[in-house]
Amino acid sequence: MSTLGSRTERMPIGIVGVSQRQIDREVPASEPPALAPNADLAVVGKPIPRVGGRAMVTGAARYTVDVKLPGMLIARILRSPHPHARILSVSASAAERYPGVRAVHVVTAMETRAAVRGATATPAAFPPALYVGASLAAVAATTRSIADEALRLIEVKYEVLPFVVDMDEARRREAPSVFEGAGQQAGGGGAAPGPPQVGNVRGPATTNSFYGGPRGNVEQGFREAGVIVEGEFRTQVQTHCCLEPHAVVADWRDDGLTLYISTQDTAGVRKDVAAAFGLPREKVRVITEFMGGGFGSKLGVGDYVMFAVELSRKASAPVSLIFDREEEQLASGNRPGTWQRLRIGARRDGALTAISLLSYGTAGIAAGAGVGNIAQAMYDCPNFEMAQYDVFVNAGPGCAMRAPGNVQGAFALEQSVDELAEKLGIDPIALRDRIDPSAARREERRIGAAHFGWSRRRLPAADAGPVKRGIGMAQSFWPGIVQTSASCEVRLQRDGLVEVRSSVQDIGTGIRTVLAQVVAEELGLRPEDVSVRIGDTNFPLGPSSGGSKTTGSITPAARKAAYQVRQALLAEVAPELGVPPEELIVGHGRIFLRANPAHGIGFRQAVGRLKKDVISAVADRGDNYGGFRVTSPMSLARENLGGVQFAEVSVDTETGIVRVAHVVAVHDCGRPMNPRQIESQIHGGVLMGVSFALYEDRILDRQSGRMLNADLEHYKLAGPREMPSIDVFLIENYQAISATDACGVAEPATIATAAAVANAVYNAVGVRIRNLPMTPASILDVLGRVPGGG
Ligand code: MOS
Repeated sequence: MSTLGSRTERMPIGIVGVSQRQIDREVPASEPPALAPNADLAVVGKPIPRVGGRAMVTGAARYTVDVKLPGMLIARILRSPHPHARILSVSASAAERYPGVRAVHVVTAMETRAAVRGATATPAAFPPALYVGASLAAVAATTRSIADEALRLIEVKYEVLPFVVDMDEARRREAPSVFEGAGQQAGGGGAAPGPPQVGNVRGPATTNSFYGGPRGNVEQGFREAGVIVEGEFRTQVQTHCCLEPHAVVADWRDDGLTLYISTQDTAGVRKDVAAAFGLPREKVRVITEFMGGGFGSKLGVGDYVMFAVELSRKASAPVSLIFDREEEQLASGNRPGTWQRLRIGARRDGALTAISLLSYGTAGIAAGAGVGNIAQAMYDCPNFEMAQYDVFVNAGPGCAMRAPGNVQGAFALEQSVDELAEKLGIDPIALRDRIDPSAARREERRIGAAHFGWSRRRLPAADAGPVKRGIGMAQSFWPGIVQTSASCEVRLQRDGLVEVRSSVQDIGTGIRTVLAQVVAEELGLRPEDVSVRIGDTNFPLGPSSGGSKTTGSITPAARKAAYQVRQALLAEVAPELGVPPEELIVGHGRIFLRANPAHGIGFRQAVGRLKKDVISAVADRGDNYGGFRVTSPMSLARENLGGVQFAEVSVDTETGIVRVAHVVAVHDCGRPMNPRQIESQIHGGVLMGVSFALYEDRILDRQSGRMLNADLEHYKLAGPREMPSIDVFLIENYQAISATDACGVAEPATIATAAAVANAVYNAVGVRIRNLPMTPASILDVLGRVPGGG
């Protein structure tokens, strides 16, 4: 694709109704003209119903678990019952002979070394089992019950080793060692990239490449402070509980491998599986048609994917492997648990003088348990330092989970800022207006405060009775991440088909709908006129859906491709209409003369007269206009994504039960592409945040190393009865960075919720909750009450 030459475009920039203006941007010549603000568009920015929504709710949509192929086998995984054991021998011969069993795969040290980056090679043939639920072998059989029976026939001799599942214990020098050497894959929370490691502790990470390193002089900053707040905070492990479990169907054939998989990254699965099996990439096809959530747990390629492929190869038959809920809890990933000590200094007028952050976190046998960058990046503060440590324990690996680290970090930061406001005698919103450089969040605080009724906030513990009500707020920060290589194709066929194609997957967040909107807008059609074919690596490769980057990455590519197709179509139609192509407009399903709208031709009619069967264009996203803006932490804080959330709670001081009655969430995501879907996603973010704040908790037994609540009965997720009423407000915040100026909202939507709830609980009872989750027992504990006692 040629980007020879460039031209200047006048583009909208700023917040609609607040600071919206025009800016001149130098853009590559291949880029479409600037897109008008949403108010002036026909389809983009409108609350279009979800494409495929009917199929999803009627059961017609095919998820990976619905894929049934002729001769398909069912695979099950043998998992360690011990939290730490050497594997002395594995005998699978009885399982292999069992009627109905078609293939058995035993995990060996070789593949573990390949799959787990940085691990020290184990001389033994079998890798040690490092947690309850670690995979040891896999079986493919004609039925699930045969596969389960065969697992029982695999004889494993274990040498049980000392283990540790508690982070505080694991930090002690005499604690059992989780790894002989250094370990393990990154989880994404901003933790230590490598050694040094002492015992089970690795780190500290003191810098973040994205946000620069430590800055200023923290000691000096604290000396200049009139007020200092310091607090220790703990957050629990939250497991991934996607509605759709981890699932894959592998179909190995002589002429290539097809994978149907619930993944956030079809292109990444293709790359990694091809590499692992020595296949050329074009021989591997990855398909994700519909998907029931990933949240970070379906970004990487888990070992189970490799097992399914290997079993299919061995058995010469398609193999389906679907996690049950226990496997989801033990081995599909989780949000690491953390301990944080945060210290903030400020002048009497509120200006921050120093922030110092120390954290220990555990992602089980994985790294990546940092608390993110929110303390570093959200507020203006000249002096900052951090030290973030990873602690290994014998538990299933943590992984990326919706705003990795930042949900935990916000719990500490936003409560500390609340505390600071109280000490300074400044309203928490007024303090943030003083220290938060983001114009978007300033407007969000204003809108939220008005709709929520912030002025009714009272002093802490104002209610006299046993049930105390309170309100609080907190906010989020998220960097705008994009994948510049994200690409797609737009096609016009003479038979009338308008199609957009990309490997990008719709993980449940609605990119299918947004792509239809973008192409429809560009071609003057309705979204239902556009056929969206995605989730297939036979199409141009789209982005992975991680870091909230899907919308910001693929929509500019789609608009570019649609624009190029439109130009080609207009060039064909123009002679017939007797004007140059620049004189033509598309809209309302027609192509017509700018000077004489009555004179024109129907879009379908025009396409039907194409000389070629197909007009097609492939485009990728490319860089942000004006270059990437990652220049300093402060410029990031000013120019990126965020949101402000308000919570109203009641706390029953006799039972310890906290209820969240109402949440107001005000967010920005550049140009909102589909307010209805964004609202739905923010509802999900609030839901997950309330669930994290009050209910979810992975309980590991120190005696056995087992998870005591490895199901969805005892691992409590918030349900409909626990949901607050939620009001969502969006601002339009143009940044003039791409052909659509769109950004994602998935992660910022959940960052602030638990912190807002905690601040509201403080306002209700006058006692700060520093540990999550806020269960009845923990509330009674901080209130100095004993359940059932006086
Ligand atoms: Mo996300 S936690 O980058 O899927």
